[in-house]
Amino acid sequence: MILENKVVVVTGGAGLLGKAFIKEILISGGVAILTDIKISSIKGFINKMNRDYPNHFYATKMDITKKLSINSVIKIIFKKFGGIDCLVNNAYPKNKNFGKQVEDVSYRDFSDNLSTHVGGYFLTSQQFGIFFKKHKGGNIINMGSVYGTLPPRFQIYKNTAMTLPVEYSSIKASIIQMTKYFAQYFKKDKIRVNCLSPGGIKDNQPKAFVSAYNSFCSKKGMLDPNDVANTLIFLISDSSKFITGQNFIIDDGFSL
Ligand SMILES: NC(=O)c1ccc[n+]([C@@H]2O[C@H](COP(=O)([O-])OP(=O)(O)OC[C@H]3O[C@@H](n4cnc5c(N)ncnc54)[C@H](O)[C@@H]3O)[C@@H](O)[C@H]2O)c1
Repeated sequence: MILENKVVVVTGGAGLLGKAFIKEILISGGVAILTDIKISSIKGFINKMNRDYPNHFYATKMDITKKLSINSVIKIIFKKFGGIDCLVNNAYPKNKNFGKQVEDVSYRDFSDNLSTHVGGYFLTSQQFGIFFKKHKGGNIINMGSVYGTLPPRFQIYKNTAMTLPVEYSSIKASIIQMTKYFAQYFKKDKIRVNCLSPGGIKDNQPKAFVSAYNSFCSKKGMLDPNDVANTLIFLISDSSKFITGQNFIIDDGFSL
C-alpha cells in the first residue's frame, strides 16, 4: 500500500499504458483518476474499476489541450477527494497523418502533432503546477521515450510498414527537457517533476519488428505495460521524494 490514499490523475488513461497505470495505482492503495479525451470505448474497464475499488476510482473526460477542460477536472477532483498529489502526463495526442516517412510529413502536420503533444504536456503541467503551488506541493511525471535521447534505429522497422516518426523524436526530446525546466522552476515549491522513458511496449507488432527490436535487448526485449507501471509507482511514492528533474529509461538495455 505504498500509495495509500494518494490521489493520482493520469492523462490518456484509456490507452495501453494508461489502463495498466490506473490498475497498479489502485493495487498500491492510491486513488486513481482516469482522464482521457475519449472514455466511451472503455466502459467495461471503468465499470470493473468502480466495482473493485469503490471510492478509490474516478473516470472523466479531459482534453490536455484545453485549459477549461483541465481546470474543471482539477475543481471536480479537489471537491470529491480533497486534494491532488500527482499528475501523470501520459496522453498521446496525434492527428490522422502522424507517422509518415519524413518526405511525406507536411509542415502543418509536423507543427500540429508537436503542438498538441508537447503543448498539451506543457498546459497540464502549468495548470496542475499552479494548483500544486497553491496547495503546498505536488508531483508531476511525464511520459518520455527512449527515442527522446537515442538516435533512431531505422533498421528495426525494415520489412514492416512501421517507422519512427520524426515528430515523435522531436516531441519526446522536448518533453525530457521540459521536465528539467519545470523541475527547476518549481524546485522551491515542493513540486517535483520527473520523466519516465520506456522502450517499446508489446502491442501485437509484426514479428519481424519484434525480433529485430529484441536483438538489441538483454533478457526480455519488448516490455509489458506492467514492467513500466512498477517504476511509475516508485516515482509517485514517497520512496522517491528527493528525486526531481530526472529521466528514467526502462528498456531492458535497448538503448545501450
Ligand atoms: N506504447 C509504447 O510503446 C510507448 C513507448 C514509450 C513511450 N510511450 C509513451 O507513453 C504514453 C502512452 O502511450 P500508449 O502507448 O499507452 O498510448 P495510447 O495511444 O494507447 O493511449 C493514449 C491515450 O491518449 C488519449 N489522448 C489523445 N489525445 C488526447 C488529448 N488531447 N487529451 C487527453 N487524452 C488524449 C487517447 O485517447 C488514448 O486513450 C505516450 O506518451 C507515449 O508516447 C509509449
